[in-house]
Amino acid sequence: CGIVGFTGRREASPILFEGLRRLEYRGYDSAGLVTSTGNQLHARKKAGRLAELGKLLATQPAPGCHGISHTRWATHGGATDRNSHPHFDAKNEIALVHNGVIENFATLKQQLQADGVQFRSDTDTEVLAHLISRFYRDDLLTAVTAALGLVKGTYGLAVMCRHEPGVIVGARFGSPLVIGIGPDGHFLASDATALAGFAEKVVYLNDRQVCQIDETGYVIRNQDFDTVDVPVHDIAHFLGDGDTEKGDFPHHMLKEIYEQPETLANAMRGRLEADNATAHFGGLNLGAQQLRQIDRVVMTACGTSYHAALVGEYLFEELARVPVEVEYASELRYRNPPMDRNTVVLALTQSGETADTLAALRESKRMGHTTLAICNAVGSSIAREADGGVYLHAGPEIGVASTKAFTSQVAVLAMLALYLGRTRHLSSTQGQRIIAELQALPDVIRKTLECHDQVKLVAQKYAGAKNVLYLGRQYLYPVALEGALKLKEISYIHAEGYPAAEMKHGPIALVDENTPSVFLVPRGNVFDKVMSNMQEIKARGGPVIAIASAGDHEVSAVADDVIEIPDVPEYLQPIVTAIPLQLLAYEIALLCGCDVDKPRNLAKSVTVE
Ligand code: G6P
Repeated sequence: CGIVGFTGRREASPILFEGLRRLEYRGYDSAGLVTSTGNQLHARKKAGRLAELGKLLATQPAPGCHGISHTRWATHGGATDRNSHPHFDAKNEIALVHNGVIENFATLKQQLQADGVQFRSDTDTEVLAHLISRFYRDDLLTAVTAALGLVKGTYGLAVMCRHEPGVIVGARFGSPLVIGIGPDGHFLASDATALAGFAEKVVYLNDRQVCQIDETGYVIRNQDFDTVDVPVHDIAHFLGDGDTEKGDFPHHMLKEIYEQPETLANAMRGRLEADNATAHFGGLNLGAQQLRQIDRVVMTACGTSYHAALVGEYLFEELARVPVEVEYASELRYRNPPMDRNTVVLALTQSGETADTLAALRESKRMGHTTLAICNAVGSSIAREADGGVYLHAGPEIGVASTKAFTSQVAVLAMLALYLGRTRHLSSTQGQRIIAELQALPDVIRKTLECHDQVKLVAQKYAGAKNVLYLGRQYLYPVALEGALKLKEISYIHAEGYPAAEMKHGPIALVDENTPSVFLVPRGNVFDKVMSNMQEIKARGGPVIAIASAGDHEVSAVADDVIEIPDVPEYLQPIVTAIPLQLLAYEIALLCGCDVDKPRNLAKSVTVE
């Protein structure tokens, strides 16, 4: 979900709408806003994409220079007009927008209903509006603080009250919120990118802080209601390189796929040291001693970042000989795995805001582990809370299906493995070879993108499939998972990624002439083994699409369709083979008529558990 608020000397609704447009990829089930003139509140909200709210505003503008707005990814209650934010108290005096989940909402709702409160939505959020109203005397900030005292759960919150024109109150616990300071007034947003071009400075709220903004200033208070000083940053620092527009590309996803030669170069820039045959990272904050003592790494992440972590397991074990365990953040946070002192926890996240990943990181910190993060969004919660980390510098990723962040995560993991490996068993000759291979990568990816025409033909042939298998081994097993995820996410075709040899223990039952299998089979150690697995599928009448080394006749003799990629060492094959799979998912989704950048039911950044 996304939040934008503004109070100042300009009309609020165009600012709010533009801010929501930039955040829409974070949730697009519905959108809404409320503005104020004098003591009047003007609410407009609509289920569906932001464009629907735009149409409503064209016929029913929301006047005034103060307002809050929201784009929703539904948690409690369907994606309907009435469940859209803002939500109001019974007297329509308090209006609020909320990211997060109020976990004890059912109990609170029962109590409020017992007292005669009528609810107008199925959301957990609405209880907050009624609670705040209950505590309201003449000061919104006090009422919000009191109401939050009764709440269990997470929130990023923006609240307005009819009796305090020009005042917006914000609160944060587990869901990000920033204050923006601009020449025309003050802002609240769940993400600084919403404020680009409007605000000059930003202040990041910490958990359990509440704030109040108006035209002329802001105040931040902690739980005890004491005023706190929080550092003010230049917004430019957090907007990162790259822009948030599509340029000449029809979709963000395609633009981001094509950016990969540059984003990989950016991930490596200044980090490879030919002289010492190693990599180095400014923000890792690990001393040489500490580095040598690491005897285990636990990697944790969600979604595509989890698949990058799985590649990391192979990379760390091969190049650094460090044992690695990879765990979904949503599982790790509630597990109590035995971890000794020298275990480092490494969180991978594009957005830096995924609620489960943040919670897993916090739990690991609490247990006393050193925590590191590989993160794309500068200044995000995870980037700020980890003890050290590495930024991807991939620029904003807007397409909901992650592409360039994945390949950059793998590149950073390869560099980290090199760095760790060089403190252990890797020789300088090996280090130098790895550096040369990494440096060649951007050009290799440029060449790989030339497979796009082949991919289009394959997509046309198989876009009608109901099930697709993705199969690979070793380094390419996680890529098989990622390829399947890409297809599922944006085309809604069921797909399963599997270790190529393991498929005979179950998924092979799915194989028939209508179920294609995508094989990741570039030349390498397990080539012959994967070829045998491919024959097993062919023997059962399943069509085979092979992602293979250019000019590999052995593969083309067996596979029905071949997509050719350049040869690279095995540890870099995950990056290279990901490209045709991203393109394949993209092309199939287009043929299926799907909204590639905003697939149904998903959101770019999931800030709820
Ligand atoms: C959501 C997105 C995925 C992403 C995952 C993890 O589910 O739709 O594309 O991989 O979150 O996000 P993160 O920002 O932590 O990498």
